[in-house]
Amino acid sequence: MKILMVCLGNICRSPLAHGIFEHLAKSQNRHWTIDSAGTGDWHIGQEPDRRSIAVARQNGIDITNQRAQQFRRDFFDEYDHILVMDRQNYKDVLRLAKDDAQKAKIRLFLNDDIVPDPYHDDQQFEPVFQLIYKRSQELIEEFSKA
Ligand code: 4NP
Repeated sequence: MKILMVCLGNICRSPLAHGIFEHLAKSQNRHWTIDSAGTGDWHIGQEPDRRSIAVARQNGIDITNQRAQQFRRDFFDEYDHILVMDRQNYKDVLRLAKDDAQKAKIRLFLNDDIVPDPYHDDQQFEPVFQLIYKRSQELIEEFSKA
């Protein structure tokens, strides 16, 4: 199973989803490949935002080895599931899909809601962490049954 987390910058939300999901999957002996990417190119090669690093660290997860990359068309072949954080991410990734099979791999991480972008609000990193953590547990359960 290969799962890709996608947001806009690949420095705030998707690195958290990547780190949390990987941590939880590993603790449940699921040997899945988890990665993340951004639809934008501004932060390519950078570490996650220091506030994402800090909130992850406070919760026992190290995400400092991650480096931002931009979403590419070939990721549709590489990954089974592409989980996006908000509706703009959904549109941007959908636009790059070549057929219905590729389109079917894209889902909102929260199914019917968005993970809010905490970039402009320091106070949002902890609630965003908790939101992603809770949903990751549900998704691991779902993917384990599949
Ligand atoms: P992310 O947050 O999409 O959760 O990584 C953002 C990070 C950077 C920018 C926007 C959103 N930015 O415009 O640089």
